[in-house]
Amino acid sequence: MRVQSLIITLTSHIRIHRINSPAFQILVMAPAKSVVADDHLAFPAVGKDTIPVSNVKTDMYGLEIWEGAFPIIDMGGLHGPRRSDTIKQLAHACQHYGGFMLKNHGISEKLLGDIMSTAREFFHLPEEERMKLYSPDPTSLIRLATGFKDDKQNVFVSRESLKFHAHPIEKYVNLWPTNPSSYREVVSEYCVAAKRAEITLLEALFEGLGMERKSIDQILDNHGQYASLNYYPTCDKSNIGLTFGLRGHTDPTIITMLLPDEVPGLEILKDGDWVPVKPIPNTLIVHVGDVLQGLSNCRYKSLLHRVIVNSETERLSIASYCYPSNDTQMGPPKELIDDDHPLIYKDYTYEEFYTTMWKQRLPDAARLNAFKISAA
Ligand code: OGA
Ligand code: NI
Repeated sequence: MRVQSLIITLTSHIRIHRINSPAFQILVMAPAKSVVADDHLAFPAVGKDTIPVSNVKTDMYGLEIWEGAFPIIDMGGLHGPRRSDTIKQLAHACQHYGGFMLKNHGISEKLLGDIMSTAREFFHLPEEERMKLYSPDPTSLIRLATGFKDDKQNVFVSRESLKFHAHPIEKYVNLWPTNPSSYREVVSEYCVAAKRAEITLLEALFEGLGMERKSIDQILDNHGQYASLNYYPTCDKSNIGLTFGLRGHTDPTIITMLLPDEVPGLEILKDGDWVPVKPIPNTLIVHVGDVLQGLSNCRYKSLLHRVIVNSETERLSIASYCYPSNDTQMGPPKELIDDDHPLIYKDYTYEEFYTTMWKQRLPDAARLNAFKISAA
């Protein structure tokens, strides 16, 4: 994500299976309590579109919960008579879990496979080819970011990612690589499909809050999309304890839509413990970002998550980050405020939020505290 960048020279003794290059990367701090799940390689053998019933339990809000961790929402429900029930489910998921797994999102299985293969091809290109896209400037419209060592915390953050703006696509596509040759076509198609799903979801999430149409339009007109192909190399067994794919953080987005491959690694902080979110084929993972927490006056909670690595299998994911335009007012709209829901945040723009985030270098939703009424 476009967060505070650091220049760190990798002089570490840590052995990894990939390049050790100077890196400019996210500054995210590992929360004090760090529980690495010992079963993170035990991915259950699930069939193509089947979700094993035994791994799904229903919670007190009637949400189906996958592996004790995260709700599963059927987005198909938004397009028919189950719309209002589905909106309630989405609102519960954002309120109590900070996100959900999304099935029937309308992105074809073929396209999911194609984007993953294209990303894999990209990260398997020779280092000099990938490094042509390397940039230390976090404002560049496309850039490769590499793993880095945080000497202060003595940890290595191993994610390599290709980050780029993606909406409107015609403004950015010519900056994208042509190696692999499928890149522009497949990535365009995926970003457009992901954005379509994001807009449908956001309308539902805002409706679930009770927002008026004009407040919804104000946010959705002019929003942006930033995307990232993420690569997590395998890690030597002896260094697993010192290596993260990504340290614990929340995303400075409205929502983040994540397509994981079949290798586990993503974990969410739930009741003080790190819990793995095991992937389900053809199912996306949606996180509430800080911006949505602010807009919703804290009714929806942004999700603290991290990525752990393993010594056996590389892992890939594709992230689509939905964010508002710089001048969007980020305070909650009036209709969300009443005696039971007093205003928590003052009005501020996304640009102010972003600038403050950079100054503060905080890894999580504590970034929003600067905009609390009580902080005035
Ligand atoms: C991110 C992120 C998780 C993953 O890109 O912000 O948290 O599984 N990604 O790649
Ligand atoms: Ni994230």
